[in-house]
Amino acid sequence: MHIELRNVSHEFTLEAGSLPVLKDLSFSVPKGRFTAIVGPSGCGKSTITRLVSGLLKSKKGEVLISKEVVKSPRSTVGMAFQNPVLLEWRNILDNVILPLEIVSKNISRETKIKRARELLKLVGLAEFEKSKPSELSGGMRQRASLCRSLVHKPEVLILDEPFGALDAFTREDLWQTMLTLKKQESFTCILITHDLREAIFLADEVLVLSGRPASLQFQLDVKLGDDRKLDDLYTNETTKSLAILRKQIEIAQKSMI
Ligand SMILES: Nc1ncnc2c1ncn2[C@@H]1O[C@H](COP(=O)(O)OP(=O)(O)OP(=O)(O)O)[C@@H](O)[C@H]1O
Ligand SMILES: [Mg+2]
Repeated sequence: MHIELRNVSHEFTLEAGSLPVLKDLSFSVPKGRFTAIVGPSGCGKSTITRLVSGLLKSKKGEVLISKEVVKSPRSTVGMAFQNPVLLEWRNILDNVILPLEIVSKNISRETKIKRARELLKLVGLAEFEKSKPSELSGGMRQRASLCRSLVHKPEVLILDEPFGALDAFTREDLWQTMLTLKKQESFTCILITHDLREAIFLADEVLVLSGRPASLQFQLDVKLGDDRKLDDLYTNETTKSLAILRKQIEIAQKSMI
């Protein structure tokens, strides 16, 4: 297993006492697979991303990447969030290159540029490499942010609601871009989302978390294969899966304390 959580529990210490957020959470993501995590707002999804990325240490249980316990942030992880923070004083190409400047200091600038251009081309931004972030639309900025999270060829990609702020059509466009990236690049992915269709369209498996403190409530295998199309979201089978997930979310919301 590439990413593994073993009986992870976590609580935050607040002035008023402690807030249990995760309780005995166990799941794993095999190498090269894509797992989506859904659950009620505030149940602990972003906390999971911080634990996997090493930004936070679990109070109980273990988080492993490639069989090694995660103790601190590592360069083999890439991340993208809902609001891409791109640096306005750098053009898009230089924003995408940034992680390479930090983790791959020994590579020549030409090699860095070549790698960044490869990704920008893949997501349809080749002509915008000299643009400033503010000259791009929200969807384009998110595309650039995805390139930046993948430029150093991370083994693990963590996406926390990366398409949440986009309109429905742009979001569907980005889903297809994500599928292209999934085919071309090799990474193991955890996607946090509130959009059940997005979870089914992108993932090999969808995990539903219970209310806080979150544990694993339900697992759904997605059998759409590698060549999925948006039309696959409207088949009887997908409609059934969506109904099952919606029901599970309802149960999870009721279990939130
Ligand atoms: N650093 C922190 N200190 C104290 N409490 C925190 C901290 N980070 C998160 N929390 C609390 O932990 C709980 C889970 O937060 P988290 O951000 O993981 O939820 P989430 O599932 O990502 O929510 P959403 O779907 O709204 O993004 C929330 O109640 C939040 O207030
Ligand atoms: Mg969150």
